[in-house]
Amino acid sequence: MPFYHKLGNIPHKRHIQFRKPDGSLYYEQLFGTIGFDGMSTNSYHEQRPTQVKEIKKQYSVAPKIALKNNIKSYRLRGFQVKPENDFLDSRKTVLINTDCAIILASPKQSTQDYFYKNTDADELIFIHKGTGKLRTMLGNLDFKYGDYLLVPRGIIYKIDFDTEDNRLFIVESRSPIYTPKRYRNWFGQLLEHAPFCERDIRRPQELETYNESGDFLIKVKKQDDIIEMVYASHPFDVVGYDGYNYPYAFSIHDFEPITGRIHQPPPVHQTFETNTFVVCSFVPRLYDYHPESIPAPYNHSNIDSDEVLYYVDGDFMSRNDIDAGHISLHPAGIPHGPHPGAVERSIGEVKTDELAVMVDTFKPLMVTEEAMKIADEDYHKSWLE
Ligand SMILES: [Fe+2]
Repeated sequence: MPFYHKLGNIPHKRHIQFRKPDGSLYYEQLFGTIGFDGMSTNSYHEQRPTQVKEIKKQYSVAPKIALKNNIKSYRLRGFQVKPENDFLDSRKTVLINTDCAIILASPKQSTQDYFYKNTDADELIFIHKGTGKLRTMLGNLDFKYGDYLLVPRGIIYKIDFDTEDNRLFIVESRSPIYTPKRYRNWFGQLLEHAPFCERDIRRPQELETYNESGDFLIKVKKQDDIIEMVYASHPFDVVGYDGYNYPYAFSIHDFEPITGRIHQPPPVHQTFETNTFVVCSFVPRLYDYHPESIPAPYNHSNIDSDEVLYYVDGDFMSRNDIDAGHISLHPAGIPHGPHPGAVERSIGEVKTDELAVMVDTFKPLMVTEEAMKIADEDYHKSWLE
């Protein structure tokens, strides 16, 4: 997605005859985004990608909202989300607005008897626990702890886990997820001051191609419904493709932190952007080195964005009583800041081992019933001395 990629066999020009060894034609598919203006991929299939055989069940997976208008800070204990066998069943939306959904999942099993396609949203899947392989129509990506997997909307995939112990933090975005524009030049190349470069972005190198006919179930997410569609050909039948629209992986451990003499603002941690929210990576780093610096952040009023922090690992200097897997929600409209004692505790510290993912949304988030099951109702009073 961030730059041109080619995998498998493709003809020397677009939209010309490309024949199989038996003389028949491969089936070309232009897979575009934002009409014909966004990033696209041209893929070549063994069979027509349009062979719908049957449309079976259709059911809503829209989350139930507990709090529509919220100004209360919350702490969610993410690891209290119960593991479930099925990948889709395991996904629990905890926070949502019309632009994005924040989801916790603890799937025990790989997707076995179906394929999945999300037509509503790009998916950013952060691997907190677990290893395995993301298998897609455009190639496979191995994953492990700390990986962000970016699956553009519409890419058909399955996910294989090596063990039953998996924890995922997923962000669904209804607008495309890109790397920050300010880190790219006018050709799209990542600039020298970017906290990562093209070498850090892992593209699919392994393409699975099956020329099979039969009944292939794809669970398609559209407008918060799952529609079970049976196709007559195997969805992974691509012999080659090229373009910009493909899944990729980026490890949070490859994010190179930007530090300074005094406290750096959250945008230095930015990793992804959309029109409607940003994603930041807080990684182990040296603290500010001004002789009178205060490494802890200052109180701040994110007056027009909700701030969601997902705590991954290490010691979270600015918070008391926060563990791995917790989420803090600091809603727009009120200030928040370090917990009592955190500022003093930070002075003189040289480095931090904290690892966290932050999502700042420009529209307020609604809190779901699933979130309330794991919520700390008193967190909003935790700054009282
Ligand atoms: Fe904050």
